[in-house]
Amino acid sequence: MTQAEHETNSWPGIAGRMALVTGASSGLGSHFAKVLAVQGAHVVAAARRIDRVEALCADLRDQGHQATPLALDVSSADAVAGALRGQVFDLVVNNAGVSHSCAALDLDADTLDQVIDTNVKGVFHVARATAAAMRDAGRGGSIVNIASILGSRVSGHVAAYAASKGAVLQLTRALALEWARHGIRVNALSPGYIETELNRDFFATDKGQALIGRVPQRRLGQPQDLDGALLLLLSDMGRFMTGVDIAVDGGHLVSSL
Ligand SMILES: NC(=O)c1ccc[n+]([C@@H]2O[C@H](COP(=O)([O-])OP(=O)(O)OC[C@H]3O[C@@H](n4cnc5c(N)ncnc54)[C@H](OP(=O)(O)O)[C@@H]3O)[C@@H](O)[C@H]2O)c1
Repeated sequence: MTQAEHETNSWPGIAGRMALVTGASSGLGSHFAKVLAVQGAHVVAAARRIDRVEALCADLRDQGHQATPLALDVSSADAVAGALRGQVFDLVVNNAGVSHSCAALDLDADTLDQVIDTNVKGVFHVARATAAAMRDAGRGGSIVNIASILGSRVSGHVAAYAASKGAVLQLTRALALEWARHGIRVNALSPGYIETELNRDFFATDKGQALIGRVPQRRLGQPQDLDGALLLLLSDMGRFMTGVDIAVDGGHLVSSL
């Protein structure tokens, strides 16, 4: 969908709301921040590389949208509590995440810690801090955790990542159960292989092309392919949805075993 189409097709419950997007300094998070800003949300774009989220927000404001940068390290509970103190969000996209690629026998403890601290504890720290503020303000909200199809199936050399995304799916269900009484919905979005600046070179290699050949739709996803699921889960169109996971993967999860 083009930006013009987004502007003319607004999703209920997004415009005028406060939206937090973590990991907004690159890739999918940067894209999600733009999508929500174009839909009329006031976006707080968070990441550790503050220069990158400042540049993103300056661009968005130049285009007439509302956007504020925030320095945030999701892996530290104290840092999250400090950075989010006093702010109430209606919409939260828990997108910050790190990956790794090495055989499980070579996976060192520091890498394992980094993946779990960011992908699992980070999602929890941000979800808990934002949900507590929603509850205290008495106004509910919608949280979307960005998981992965590797949370449901496995592949080689991504043991910690796959385990972390599986944990995100279970965390999503557990939080949805506990927080429905506060009007807070918690859902997951599991992308398949989506082309970003970080993986573009890999997917051009023979190995990358072979991987694309195993996707039933025979192509990589583009960040825009995630917009429908993201907006459905965040907006009032998804008001009776909580605790679910939507995979957007060109059929990769149902590929032949
Ligand atoms: N691209 C795909 O094909 C794909 C597929 C399935 C799932 N996903 C998931 O989608 C999300 C975004 O992935 P991506 O492809 O866009 O990757 P990316 O370009 O590497 O972006 C990752 C983002 O996470 C942020 N981040 C990492 N550690 C952080 C921390 N401790 N605190 C705060 N922010 C942190 C990074 O910002 P700073 O370094 O500036 O902090 C960056 O903005 C991840 O959760 C990933 O697992 C991606």
